[in-house]
Amino acid sequence: MLARYDWAIDPADVVRVSDVMVGITELLRVAARPGDGVVVNPPVYPPFFSHVVEAGCRLVEAPLAVSRGRYELDLEALRSAFAAGSRIYLLCNPHNPMGRVFSRSDLLQVVELAERYGVLVLSDEIHAPLTLPGARHTPFLSLGESARARGIALVSASKGWNIPGLKCAQIVVASDPMRALIRRLPEHVWFRAGNLGVIASVAAYRDGGGWLDELLAVLDRNRNLMSTLLAERLPGVVYRPPEAGYLGWLDCRALGLPQEPVDRFLERGRVALTAGLRFGSQGSGHVRVTMATSREILAEIVERMRAALA
Ligand SMILES: Cc1ncc(COP(=O)(O)O)c(C=O)c1O
Repeated sequence: MLARYDWAIDPADVVRVSDVMVGITELLRVAARPGDGVVVNPPVYPPFFSHVVEAGCRLVEAPLAVSRGRYELDLEALRSAFAAGSRIYLLCNPHNPMGRVFSRSDLLQVVELAERYGVLVLSDEIHAPLTLPGARHTPFLSLGESARARGIALVSASKGWNIPGLKCAQIVVASDPMRALIRRLPEHVWFRAGNLGVIASVAAYRDGGGWLDELLAVLDRNRNLMSTLLAERLPGVVYRPPEAGYLGWLDCRALGLPQEPVDRFLERGRVALTAGLRFGSQGSGHVRVTMATSREILAEIVERMRAALA
């Protein structure tokens, strides 16, 4: 984190957990009272919805603002959600499904709002290692004292190095109030991390930089290849290459299909994408495509989507 994002972490402030979503759920269990509002920004990673509910909290949606395929944090929507009493904000930083890397200035405004309304910010930074050339990831806890006083980061090697099955993620804090909060986590939360996950995470963070750089070059190529393929074969689909990760968020609304595009692509094209609706009602008419694959398969995906429209 120090080498890549200029973010210094004290090892004493790192708690291991079995995965990021378990970390989020357990943190909600100790930080929230039953029924507390937890703010999320749809379209967003589907388990955000279910895990907030699993922890006994109430979902509060502050959808991202979008203009011609470019998604931004809607700071006014966040402000009004906080003003209405939500005490916790689940930030996806970078954001899945569209791979947005939010600007430092927007994140600083989040800090200001969180301070003004006394909101705890859980920053899910699992996609950070996959930040692509041209973008710069801002760790939430690098945004100053006020961010550290009310922020907790969740990081993991599981996305960058594709080791989620080994079960290890990390909760990171950097202030006394947040240290006090994580001390309230039950001890078994620590023990549930897998030993192989710990070993693999250490190897990834310590020695996996070269491998990651090679991977990033492939993902960079793939996101651009997707632009070319869509422009040539499916010009009606709106796509902005992700700034982090390997996911493409495709706006298919201009295709004018009578059904959700995911169903059409599966039924007629035999290509399985993720339904936009899984990311929130705002995802209707969209699909999410995984681009962590070969150029041949990427071309085949787009070809099958085109065939489904014929
Ligand atoms: C934003 C985000 N958070 C969490 C996860 C899941 O991570 P874990 O397996 O560590 O719970 C994912 C996986 O896709 C994700 O995209």
